[in-house]
Amino acid sequence: MRHSDFRALFKLALLSSAIGATGSGLACGGVVDTRGGGGSSSSGGSSTSSTSSSGGSSSSSSSSSSSSSSSSSGSTSSSGSTSSSSGGGCATGNAPLVDTYCCPEGTSCPNVAFDDPKSPKKCTVDCQRLCDAVAPGASAFSCNWVDDNTLSYYCGACGIGRVAQGTPDCPLGESLGERLARQAYYERASVLAFEHLLAALRAHGADGRLVARAQKAAEDEARHARVFADLAALHGAAPMPLERATEEPTLFALALENATEGCVRETFGALVTLHQAANAESAEVRAAFAAIADDEAEHAALSWDLRAWFDEKLAPGERARVHQAHLRAVERARHDAAAPSDALGSALGLPAPARALHMLDTLMHALQQAA
Ligand SMILES: [Fe+2]
Ligand SMILES: [Fe+2]
Repeated sequence: MRHSDFRALFKLALLSSAIGATGSGLACGGVVDTRGGGGSSSSGGSSTSSTSSSGGSSSSSSSSSSSSSSSSSGSTSSSGSTSSSSGGGCATGNAPLVDTYCCPEGTSCPNVAFDDPKSPKKCTVDCQRLCDAVAPGASAFSCNWVDDNTLSYYCGACGIGRVAQGTPDCPLGESLGERLARQAYYERASVLAFEHLLAALRAHGADGRLVARAQKAAEDEARHARVFADLAALHGAAPMPLERATEEPTLFALALENATEGCVRETFGALVTLHQAANAESAEVRAAFAAIADDEAEHAALSWDLRAWFDEKLAPGERARVHQAHLRAVERARHDAAAPSDALGSALGLPAPARALHMLDTLMHALQQAA
């Protein structure tokens, strides 16, 4: 899809949500039906943070100003990142199966691990039990089988955008400066994600235009990181350091990342960026989001073009798993969009939950129609 197509879709979603989220009869008009993959229910309601991405980065707002320390009490060793904010944990990563994650027989567990048909199931895993172990207080969102004995998990509302799995989560922060520094952190995380993607595109002989677009996206994200780090510095804050992961992701892992982070989080983030560019309270914050908005629309377009490229490279079973992961990512984004925001969310120009949800649903519905 072209960059200009995305700009048109974003305009549609913003206009539609301006009408639909204000209580008119159109409020549910654009809801995308994702019940075919992973269920339509989100675990919203217990989440205490709302996260909206701005391209490869994230601006989050919490419903409470209190913040607890990072915590992880998994009963088994796991790889991933965990942090806790506003009374709810956040963690992504992989963990081996232990019996305590299993949904007890005769019990109804509403949020269970998505089944990989190639893996013999040892039990039906209850994602909430897994999340209670690795990120106490997090509202579980999803977990999936990776292989016979390993689960990936995504618990609570973590930083979003094009962020590779295992990227340490950055705490929400309690001041505007800290939120801007967090934005800069996730912009940097996006640089690393695009660099991994770029290496894979080159290694697998991708078309030169795709390679050039990924290269430019990495450069864009580095510039975005500087924009927000400079603005955070004016407010007395600095981004947390971020190290490049040494392990190069597989092509399948990158396809999953593109379908979830790129085609959902970064795509919705690009739309939210436009909202922030128009609605942030201060002129300097509006200008910062305006400076990255057009780049982010192009990154969204790139994600959807990359989806087609990955589809050609993957085996049919892998393609099906990527598609399922995409549907679950949409549900996860709806869960985050519907969570309440706070005063800092308003300062950053984040849409209120009803509007955010309407924007997301309208955009995803339009993209489904166009794909
Ligand atoms: Fe960005
Ligand atoms: Fe981006």
